[in-house]
Amino acid sequence: MEPPKDLMLQLKRKYTLEDFIETGTYRGGTALWAAAHFARVTTIEFSRALYEDMRAQHSGIHNINCIFGDSREALKTILPKLDRPAMLWLDSHWSGRRRISCSSMMPGCLPLPRRDRIA
Ligand SMILES: C[S@@+](CC[C@H](N)C(=O)[O-])C[C@H]1O[C@@H](n2cnc3c(N)ncnc32)[C@H](O)[C@@H]1O
Repeated sequence: MEPPKDLMLQLKRKYTLEDFIETGTYRGGTALWAAAHFARVTTIEFSRALYEDMRAQHSGIHNINCIFGDSREALKTILPKLDRPAMLWLDSHWSGRRRISCSSMMPGCLPLPRRDRIA
């Protein structure tokens, strides 16, 4: 799903948000967009290949922090460290090809609502 960028920018202005945290980097499209609007971007990807592609292609962008790992675990470290409100784009749903799939992480699993995963 394409992120609702206009709404994100409205919310950024309204709440003076400077941090953007994304689960599921994929090819980095949203992270790159966010880097042009937010002071600090954190993006988490569980596919090693996609994470390394992102690092290789965009390591020069100073305000993007790429994290390799399962966003359900990574958020447990990232969220408690936040010292100001942040925008969260929860987009790490399972996909095909080089992306991480739900069944590859948890064979036989059914997805839980995302709010349950970070609660
Ligand atoms: C829809 S794509 C993300 C698109 C990206 N946010 C954008 O807007 O351009 C979903 C990504 O989530 C990743 N993913 C799936 N489960 C994940 C998890 N538990 N932690 C981190 N990334 C995950 C997949 O490998 C895939 O690259």
